[in-house]
Amino acid sequence: MCGIVGYIGKRQAAPVILDGLERLEYRGYDSAGIAVQHEGAIQVAKATGRLEALYHLTRGGTTLLGTSGIGHTRWATHGVPNDVNAHPHTNEHGTIAVVQNGIIENYIALRERLKSKGYTFVSETDTEVVAHLLDYYYQGDARKAIIQVLQHIEGSYALGIQFADQPEAIFGVRKGCPLIIGLGDGETFMASDVTAVLKHTRRVMYPGELEIAELGTEGVQLFTTDEEPVTREVSEVAWDISAAEKGGYEHFMLKEMMEQPKVVRDTLSPHIRDGRIEIEELKISDEDLARVNRVFFVACGSAYHTGVTAKYIFESLARLRVETDLASEFIYRDPLLDKDDLVVVISQSGETADTKEALKMAREAGCRVLAIVNVVGSSIAREADFVMYTMAGPEIAVATTKAYSAQLIDLYLLAMKFASARGYLHGRKLKSMMEDLAKLPEQIELMLNSREKIQRIANRFIAARDVFFIGRGIDYAISLEGSLKLKEISYIHSEAYAAGELKHGTIALLEEGSLVAAVSTQPSLHAKLLSNIKEVKARGAVVLGVTTMGNREIEQESDFCVTLPETNPLFANSLAIIPLQMLAYYIAVGRGCDVDKPRNLAKSVTVE
Ligand code: G6P
Repeated sequence: MCGIVGYIGKRQAAPVILDGLERLEYRGYDSAGIAVQHEGAIQVAKATGRLEALYHLTRGGTTLLGTSGIGHTRWATHGVPNDVNAHPHTNEHGTIAVVQNGIIENYIALRERLKSKGYTFVSETDTEVVAHLLDYYYQGDARKAIIQVLQHIEGSYALGIQFADQPEAIFGVRKGCPLIIGLGDGETFMASDVTAVLKHTRRVMYPGELEIAELGTEGVQLFTTDEEPVTREVSEVAWDISAAEKGGYEHFMLKEMMEQPKVVRDTLSPHIRDGRIEIEELKISDEDLARVNRVFFVACGSAYHTGVTAKYIFESLARLRVETDLASEFIYRDPLLDKDDLVVVISQSGETADTKEALKMAREAGCRVLAIVNVVGSSIAREADFVMYTMAGPEIAVATTKAYSAQLIDLYLLAMKFASARGYLHGRKLKSMMEDLAKLPEQIELMLNSREKIQRIANRFIAARDVFFIGRGIDYAISLEGSLKLKEISYIHSEAYAAGELKHGTIALLEEGSLVAAVSTQPSLHAKLLSNIKEVKARGAVVLGVTTMGNREIEQESDFCVTLPETNPLFANSLAIIPLQMLAYYIAVGRGCDVDKPRNLAKSVTVE
């Protein structure tokens, strides 16, 4: 989704802003623009397409003079991607510039009102109303004008604002969308996330909802819509800039897949103490945990798939009632929630609009909310009652891999914690599960090291039209994620089916040569899956089996087979997903796709 970068300091602003925007590219965008203040005027440059076009237009930013400015990468919502709709938007005289991430929901009514006052609009965007509204209220006091505008606009947004006649300041404000402030030495930044400023500073501040940030060369002042000053603590970001760079890999996605052993280890280790699981962040006593009536897992995309996995694990291990929901469904289905329910929201970015809304709804219903989040200081992390962080570091590729793997680990730990508190997990069983958990990083490494084999298989299916993923139980959850990875980066049509459902319709789609990836990691379900494999083979499908080592029948029945090291079946997702991520990756590379930035997709989906 849209990305915002703002800079005020002593350096030429445009190259710094362009560099920041480049680091936000992963969020997904289709046009970009920049506004810079110089000698009492604002200069704007915009270009459709990739940032290179904007680089080219401004010679890397050097043609735009001035030491303060705002920039934007736009992921189109209102109006097609073109130069006119690209941000920044300005008032008619070009003296006020605005960039926005989010949606101004009442923009149509505002536009009509402004038109009746003589304002003319050039773009189809919702953002342009903000520029004209600012113009309407601006009498030389930027703070007052911004406050008045905030009283009229509705929706979720983050705004970056600049005035031609205010050389000493740029402004930012957020409501429901992310915006962080970076504090440098004689320079100050704002950005949609920390990766855009990490190169310059690790000192960041997270403004609260509707707190207006006035950035100057010497720092930032925050104030409320009543013009009351606000103090926010300055945090030191632990992430290293190198973590947000490719480090010699061809794609971020490959780099991030290869980081999974480390990420899993880092996510596990803070929670293992003297052979026991400690989740300090979850400030609920074991007695209280045992009294939790139901757990809801609510998330979007791949995070939702970890929630599907968790349902199987929690029910089987902790004998607890579980519901897993897509956040976008949960918030509109009027779920029955009560105060003994625990709602677990799972999100890499911590900014996904639907997941945030689910969190809010759960809290309003009196439930306790635990967030499993990767981005420190994100909205979800701030609004939940408890936060368990995934230690994945910055994830840049749009298609998640390492954050997904880290989420699984937090969910395993949580399931085991619940199971112990409820008296279902102790002694030898607990010990053996702890041992299996500890082996996961090495086993994932082993799977990653066999990537050449996967690449060879992938090369055979570069021209595939449809690919089906089948599995039962946890293997169904794995199939959902395997299928999503493939379709999102290779654009090959792909579906995941609970293997037992095949006969109820999907099998009609199979043709001679269709690829079916059959996942079979659950010993109690091997025989059932074997029958499904036979059924699809009888219809001409080519089968890629993904199964545990020593499962001879599946190996023999499959045309290609990837075997996984032995682990507790409840942890199988962590191993089985690796070859499926690799399969998607190598097929996408073979098809010449833009692996890290697939078309139409955004990393952080901040609108519903
Ligand atoms: C987008 C991303 C996915 C992610 C989903 C949920 O679709 O491309 O990788 O799983 O959003 O995002 P979240 O940040 O809430 O995990």
